[in-house]
Amino acid sequence: MNINCIKLENFRNYKEQKVSFTGGVNIICGENAQGKTNLLEAVAAMSTIRLFRTGQKKEGLRFGEKQGKIYGEFTAEGRDFSVELRLFDKKPAEVYRNGVRMKRQSDARGILKTVLFCPDDLYLIRAGAGARRRFLDTALCQLRPNYDKVLTEYEKVLAHKNKILKDSEEKPEMLELLDDFSLRLARLGAIIIRYRAYYIRKLAEKACQVHKLAAPNEKLDITYKTVSSITDVYASAEHIEKELIEHVFNHKRFEIAAKSCLSGPHKDDLEIMLCGASASSFGSQGQVRTCALALKLAEREMFFDDSGEYPVLLLDDVLSELDSKRQDFVLNRIDKGQVLITCCDLDTMKKINAGIVFFVKNGQVLKDIKKI
Ligand SMILES: Nc1ncnc2c1ncn2[C@@H]1O[C@H](COP(=O)(O)OP(=O)(O)O)[C@@H](O)[C@H]1O
Ligand SMILES: [Mg+2]
Repeated sequence: MNINCIKLENFRNYKEQKVSFTGGVNIICGENAQGKTNLLEAVAAMSTIRLFRTGQKKEGLRFGEKQGKIYGEFTAEGRDFSVELRLFDKKPAEVYRNGVRMKRQSDARGILKTVLFCPDDLYLIRAGAGARRRFLDTALCQLRPNYDKVLTEYEKVLAHKNKILKDSEEKPEMLELLDDFSLRLARLGAIIIRYRAYYIRKLAEKACQVHKLAAPNEKLDITYKTVSSITDVYASAEHIEKELIEHVFNHKRFEIAAKSCLSGPHKDDLEIMLCGASASSFGSQGQVRTCALALKLAEREMFFDDSGEYPVLLLDDVLSELDSKRQDFVLNRIDKGQVLITCCDLDTMKKINAGIVFFVKNGQVLKDIKKI
């Protein structure tokens, strides 16, 4: 899986730019605020059809411009693809796959697979459970289209059930529908929990292996936290469904009192412990970063196990806040697959024994590419 080239027009601080990448390590070097992260954002957009720094695609338009585009050519599963994202100030973005306009953005999503690690990813450890669920869902939706479908359906039914609970005070007759929705949620929820359980089991194993290499003296433990009354998350979906139904009916009056759906995979979490203490509460900035990085690198291995191809690894500013031992560890991990890594100081990259360097200055990727 390789991104071969990217063309930008009026995207962020780029007016017009074409960049051809190498299949190995691509180092993107430049001072602050020159356009390094913007370039990674454009590459990631070819995979996710969204901009990782904003929910509003039009914010990617170069200030004052009415339209712009990101176009990328890549190879996936031995085939060539192109994706183009056209941005407009006054209408929604358009998406093209191999030159053909797609009705749904999801038709172009996930052909190019990427794993991004950026400073904001500390949220994976520090933020609330929602961030960790998003991390799991993003990977599982790419790996298992059926998971994507079930999750979408679950979210719809959940919203419906919450509305019933909310409106039940004014319209008590609504509660007649409640049991039916609880049953539907239990059926879908059981499938989601089972997918997550198996995924997390492997992810945790890989993340711990990776982490051990980076920080041999710090023991990492990752545990899946879901509805408390489930006795075995690896049991059949029918078995989990039965336990979910029992749980929800036992807690029915609490849900009616709270006017909201209190249990289910929408409350799931990953518990991340370092040396027996919560990483989020007790971890230092460097430790937290190492944990988050271990999770991301493990995610990349999961993709590889599934498809035999490494997703493109996008590393934005990963080396800051890591001591030189941990920096070495990161740089040693990027010998497989295609990697785009940004840095301010080329000296830190001297430890990489092969790669191409691009210099970014004021929205221009300078042509004098040099190999190190
Ligand atoms: N929509 C936009 N139009 C023009 N410039 C933008 C836009 N969004 C961000 N920028 C500019 O891009 C620069 C930051 O680029 P970035 O890629 O984050 O820098 P860095 O090289 O530090 O990673 C800032 O100068 C910012 O003002
Ligand atoms: Mg940056």
